[in-house]
Amino acid sequence: MNAPLRRGTTKLAIVGAGAVGSTLAYAALTRGTARSVALLDVNKQKVEAEVLDLQHGMMFIPPAEITGGDDVEVCRDADVVVVTAGAKQQPGQTRIDLAEATIGLTKRILPGLLEVAPNAVYIMVTNPVDIVTYAAQKISGLPAGRLFGSGTVLDSSRLRAALAVHCGVAVGNVHAYIAGEHGDSELPLWSSATIGGVPLLDWKSIAGQPPLDEAARTRIAHEVVDSAYRIIAGKGATNYAVGLAATRIIEAVLKDEHRVLTVSSKLEDYYGISDVCLSVPSVIDRRGVAGVLGVPLSDEELAGLRASADSMRAVQKRFGL
Ligand code: LAC
Repeated sequence: MNAPLRRGTTKLAIVGAGAVGSTLAYAALTRGTARSVALLDVNKQKVEAEVLDLQHGMMFIPPAEITGGDDVEVCRDADVVVVTAGAKQQPGQTRIDLAEATIGLTKRILPGLLEVAPNAVYIMVTNPVDIVTYAAQKISGLPAGRLFGSGTVLDSSRLRAALAVHCGVAVGNVHAYIAGEHGDSELPLWSSATIGGVPLLDWKSIAGQPPLDEAARTRIAHEVVDSAYRIIAGKGATNYAVGLAATRIIEAVLKDEHRVLTVSSKLEDYYGISDVCLSVPSVIDRRGVAGVLGVPLSDEELAGLRASADSMRAVQKRFGL
């Protein structure tokens, strides 16, 4: 249904046409993130159906070429490759429980992708994303920053949404990050957070809103960490917010935005933390991760980040990474 594109346009390749991959394709197409979107999945019938369903909406979205199939060839010359394929987190399972299956999958699919898209920026979304990113970084040997993970961009979005509702302020005026593992050891960086320019820890409630005291902050932090478990228990998977988070990351790359996002990348001497993939505020541009920000940390936050690093390193060791 599509005439071949002239080069000079941006191409996004999405590996995995499951709930996350197909939602990501939908979000990217409705936002006009890329001029060409390709979906790859081993399930030929599924991926062709997803592509057909998306193509039928072309009249309602910005101009785009939509292709897909079960052959890695569909990813050729992509500018950004996003890997969403992997085992599905079941109710009660942790993301780490998926590690053995998804590390193996990454080892199988990455070489073929690198062959058809050697110059792409690679974004890992598959869970456990920090471990998968570390494994993919080792397998690919790509320059630092050109392969990274979606990390806690989604968690930071969950935190900001909860704070916006609690404080009665637009989410765009909330600047707060979740750092560390995209998982149970993640931590909120309260000490550097601001709401409307006011340091979060000095926030005084407005317009009848409840106080943002320590009890409220603890509740919100727990809600963020537990979000995926709650959603998976209710509908079997998360897809909308993670699809939008990945789209935001892709746009920062394709539009060279220099946007600060908490993606997961291999840290080197970040407050003394090295040789592990964790999320910290990072600058994202056409190169991928252009750099990480040495955001001020309280003693408690630094201890939490180090604990998250230890947790990931233990998993890396368990799987021989
Ligand atoms: C979540 C999945 C993407 O947190 O890990 O929704």
